[in-house]
Amino acid sequence: MLLKYAHLLDRTVRYLEVGSGRALILIHAFPLSADQWLPQLHRVPPGWRVIAPDIRGFRGVGQAYQDVGLETATMATHAADVLSLMNHLDVDKAVVGGLSMGGYVTLAVAKVAARRLDGLVLADTRATADTEAGRVAREAMVALVHSHGPEAVADLMVPTLLGATSAHDQPDLVEAVRTLILRNTPEAIASAAQAMKGREDMVGLLPGLTCPTLIICGAEDVLTPPADSEAMAAALPNVELVIVPGAGHLSNLEAPMAFTEALTRFLGRIS
Ligand code: MLT
Repeated sequence: MLLKYAHLLDRTVRYLEVGSGRALILIHAFPLSADQWLPQLHRVPPGWRVIAPDIRGFRGVGQAYQDVGLETATMATHAADVLSLMNHLDVDKAVVGGLSMGGYVTLAVAKVAARRLDGLVLADTRATADTEAGRVAREAMVALVHSHGPEAVADLMVPTLLGATSAHDQPDLVEAVRTLILRNTPEAIASAAQAMKGREDMVGLLPGLTCPTLIICGAEDVLTPPADSEAMAAALPNVELVIVPGAGHLSNLEAPMAFTEALTRFLGRIS
């Protein structure tokens, strides 16, 4: 496992990298960090190079640098960040995947650079924009993180991020997810909440995405329920849908073996 820093023109990006060969980029959920992908990074299939960057601003606590542009970042910014990192690493084409917010970023990459995709992984995510109620909740989240800090965000979110089975059976995971959240600054959390609030509806993009696509969703996901994944699967032309039993929204952490097996099978089929 390699922890690396890419020094780009205007900012430094922290990312994790394992393996060599064809590239798989994995984008994390809100409000976590690239460390979310550690279970998958420990089981990278031969012939694959997995790269997991932090979204702009994330994993900022204790870093020697402060990320830039958080006040104005949008999903398009995060997509451009993924493409800049690919350019920096000389990766022309990759399988790009993300979980939840990472899925929103993945679809934003697909919108502007479908040519550079060997495949897509959309985990516990949706293609629709926020509803009006969802936008109001984003504003409340921004106010909460500024007034009470990431601890309050963790208190609010952990019970919905994890499925009922994991919450009951995996107390260590509950703590681990909390720890991931607390490594983020209020500025990063607020920035990402604003970017998600403003994201565009990508439903119309799906029928044109012809690359192989894997959709994974925890059966107990209450934030982006399986129905959201089924709707994306119905619209995508070249898709496989996997519902993971006993997992909630953070399916890659809650059921790491099932998630990694589905991912490995999918990568094995990419020509
Ligand atoms: C995430 O897990 O990234 C978030 O729950 C996504 C969202 O709030 O829409």
